[in-house]
Amino acid sequence: MSWSSNPHSDRPGTVRRTIVPTADGAAVEVIDQTRLPHQLVMVRLQTLEQAAAAIQDMVVRGAPLIGVTAAYAMWLGLRTGGTDDVAIQGMRARLLATRPTAVNLRWALDQVIAAIMPLAPDQRAAAARRRADALVAEDVAICAAIGKHGLPILRAAFHAAGEDRPVQVLTHCNAGFLAAIEWGTALAPIYRARDEGIPVHVWVDETRPRNQGGALTAWEMAQAGIPHTVIADNAGGHLMQRGKVDLCLVGSDRTTARGDVCNKIGTYLKALAARAHGVPFYVGLPGPTIDFDVGDGLAEIPIEERQGAEVRRARGRLVAATGSDEAGLATVELLPPSTPVFNPAFDVTPAALVTALITERGVCAATREALAALYPDRAGRGR
Ligand code: MRU
Repeated sequence: MSWSSNPHSDRPGTVRRTIVPTADGAAVEVIDQTRLPHQLVMVRLQTLEQAAAAIQDMVVRGAPLIGVTAAYAMWLGLRTGGTDDVAIQGMRARLLATRPTAVNLRWALDQVIAAIMPLAPDQRAAAARRRADALVAEDVAICAAIGKHGLPILRAAFHAAGEDRPVQVLTHCNAGFLAAIEWGTALAPIYRARDEGIPVHVWVDETRPRNQGGALTAWEMAQAGIPHTVIADNAGGHLMQRGKVDLCLVGSDRTTARGDVCNKIGTYLKALAARAHGVPFYVGLPGPTIDFDVGDGLAEIPIEERQGAEVRRARGRLVAATGSDEAGLATVELLPPSTPVFNPAFDVTPAALVTALITERGVCAATREALAALYPDRAGRGR
């Protein structure tokens, strides 16, 4: 199986989206992101519970993809479980509990529920499926627009650097197509830059403990032929200090009404280093990650705490095959099981450290006023 970023490619064995409804109309298939970069494998999800487990165990991850998967999960739940109001609230609660920080999850569930509640119970499953399909199309359009709006930033950085070397971008975690459906959020401008012939080199933070940078972003960059280098999470400050980073570009799992950005743990440290060294710090985000009900991100966003085993262990391909599973992948213990660890999955970067937000509606300052001006249809309802 191989990846194709060509949306018109239907070659057998080619994957071009992270989630695809199956031809038999009974399930969706998703890329198993726990097996990348070593294997590109699709797994079938045909019940709400399978989809919920896939979100929780990070077979699928990334704010937009979590939301879309949850939308299809509602469809699967309505197909195979009850369709009455009580059953629907139960499904919502089960899915909401999977990952508490990325607000797209709640947003997508609310979209589906708003579409199905006015309908007779026997029409709800089909309507949920239609809404989930629509969310896929919306996400693709949103991410494409983020790329379009972010492109001038990379073009300007290329000019500012003298046009004789690639723009040096540092990114954290994975905010590429694997976090969405196509394009991605923060990485969308980089794909656009590639298409425009603007040379970019990406410093990819490894992003411990789950290595979304090393395992996913680097894989994406390799598929797209974009020059990149994986660095240990601790290397970013050193690179910025030596003038090796022109700008930082990261995603967001929840952006508050005043522009605070909650993203993968470690993002905040990069923003601090960027501020100290005068490196612009940009955040690419789709509108659905803006939570206009939240103002102070530090006080109000629930930070997911994941299993300590993610810190104690690492997973990869064994150099010698002994002890590995059928794919040659193995989990190794870095620390004794008794070692106390703490594993917060996200942190909050205050708006004051953010140079600008790149959204599907344009680029704006990370302020309450600027966000309200871009999203007048949504901002009025929050604080
Ligand atoms: O824990 P993950 O892998 O789901 O975290 C993903 C991120 O932090 C991404 O940066 C984020 O979802 C950006 S894509 C809008």
